[in-house]
Amino acid sequence: MSSRKFFVGGNWKMNGNKAAIDTIIERLNSNKNESVETVCAPPQCYLEYTRSKLDAAVFVSAQNCYKVEKGAFTGDISPAMLKDLGVTHVILGHSERRHVFGETDELIAEKCAHALENGLTVIACIGEKLEEREAGQTEAVNVRQLTAIKKAISDWSKVVIAYEPVWAIGTGKTASPDQAQEVHQQLRAWMAAEVSKEVADSIRIIYGGSVSGGNCKDLAKKPDIDGFLVGGASLKPEFVEIINARN
Ligand code: 13P
Repeated sequence: MSSRKFFVGGNWKMNGNKAAIDTIIERLNSNKNESVETVCAPPQCYLEYTRSKLDAAVFVSAQNCYKVEKGAFTGDISPAMLKDLGVTHVILGHSERRHVFGETDELIAEKCAHALENGLTVIACIGEKLEEREAGQTEAVNVRQLTAIKKAISDWSKVVIAYEPVWAIGTGKTASPDQAQEVHQQLRAWMAAEVSKEVADSIRIIYGGSVSGGNCKDLAKKPDIDGFLVGGASLKPEFVEIINARN
């Protein structure tokens, strides 16, 4: 296995309330695993609440943020504000941001650059849609999304790449360990060729899309799968099993 620290993020999406969050936090606080970088991404209105209750060993991530520090951008939040709350990570480019809210590769790249400049760790999501996979475009789509980010940033040390095939998100259809490994390997090879071998060897490439307590162990055995970004199961007790998938 590689020396890359296993990374597990829970993307709560637009779910939960204080009572539900209390239950999740209690579970995480009593099941720590310090060999894993564990991150929770609550809805933005609960970021501070979550940060105040969660053990310091677990990081808090936002699900999105904008590309500038402040100004007339109604409804949005900035990396500077996130840092002010003790938030250390941000998910950017999630497929729901791309496909529900129409965010472009370029906007996502600008957001990544600004978040990194402000010292946040960026969980940069990429992934192909079902019709793109069926048309044999999987690698091309993922490379296009990554290329946009590459053009905007120079330091990859605080980037985690989340490969989340759109057809596997919230559908119960997980990419098989071999399907996920194939893409992760392609992405790492791309990083080696286009960025550097050093970055390719050290960057975490995590998988997201219907990860569960039942499938996490087989996925975690693959050499280029360095962790998970978990949606639905991150709200449930099985999230602890997913954190411990490599143990
Ligand atoms: P599910 O785990 O619910 O498929 O969601 C994956 C995801 O989108 C994580 O960001």
